[in-house]
Amino acid sequence: MRFAGKSVLVTGAGSGIGRACALAFAREGARVVCGDRDGADATVALIEAAGGSAVACSMDAGADADVARAVALAVDRFGGIDVVHANAGISGGLAGLFEQSAEDWAEILRVNLIGPFLAIRHAAPVMAAAGGGAIVCTASVAGLRSGAGGAAYSASKAGVINLVQTAAQQLSGSGVRVNAVCPGLIETGMTAMVYDHARQSGKEARIGRLNPLRRGGEAEEIARVVLFLASGEASYVNGQAWAVDGGLSSSHPFTRQDYGRTAV
Ligand SMILES: NC(=O)c1ccc[n+]([C@@H]2O[C@H](COP(=O)([O-])OP(=O)(O)OC[C@H]3O[C@@H](n4cnc5c(N)ncnc54)[C@H](O)[C@@H]3O)[C@@H](O)[C@H]2O)c1
Repeated sequence: MRFAGKSVLVTGAGSGIGRACALAFAREGARVVCGDRDGADATVALIEAAGGSAVACSMDAGADADVARAVALAVDRFGGIDVVHANAGISGGLAGLFEQSAEDWAEILRVNLIGPFLAIRHAAPVMAAAGGGAIVCTASVAGLRSGAGGAAYSASKAGVINLVQTAAQQLSGSGVRVNAVCPGLIETGMTAMVYDHARQSGKEARIGRLNPLRRGGEAEEIARVVLFLASGEASYVNGQAWAVDGGLSSSHPFTRQDYGRTAV
């Protein structure tokens, strides 16, 4: 019960990683504002069915007024805001550099990068006034280097990684920590097409084979790291981007020395 009595806002809580995080926060005693443009009610119903406390907020995570309203809802309903998980995101597909328009880029950057900026902008002052808090943004391994998403998506996630570094610095002395989690391949709504295609073509075993754990990840495996970063256990972790990717980002794509060939 690391979050007993805490007020938590999760954006993108209607599906995938955000839903898993909202459920996990609630299981550990948090009262959760579940923000999403779609599906937040269903997440709230799951939390309430498990005996937890939550409220849905229909919102666009990239719209200034909506983010301000979500933070105000947490304050009004739950007496403050201790944690924000700025998680809502869109992928825009795997389109290459010359297949996306400026409008495509603007929308992906608006949701994926300006969204977390707005979450920090509106929540951090409230947290600071109360003595501190924790903000965790969902970036991606796609933000660490190229090759794990479309061009605009990768740039947006690289921006999130820099944003948490800058925010941690500019919140110096406030008691507010800001970190990012960088998931690898996780089965969610965003990656459903990849998983569906692999299953339909009998190639399911190939999913995640590029990382040394040789599998895709579960949303709950991201949630465990997000909760750690948001908790007091991570009290000295600030301005960091943690990859949770089975080891995918730990190497350049050289031939791997597989265990068994060399060690045994
Ligand atoms: N699934 C992966 O492999 C993976 C890997 C790395 C990073 N991520 C990131 O994880 C985060 C969560 O994605 P997911 O994989 O759970 O996908 P998902 O599609 O299952 O969930 C994303 C949620 O965000 C919501 N959303 C999208 N745009 C929104 C907006 N403008 N306002 C409010 N809500 C909005 C969607 O309605 C959806 O409920 C995203 O930021 C994504 O980029 C996912």
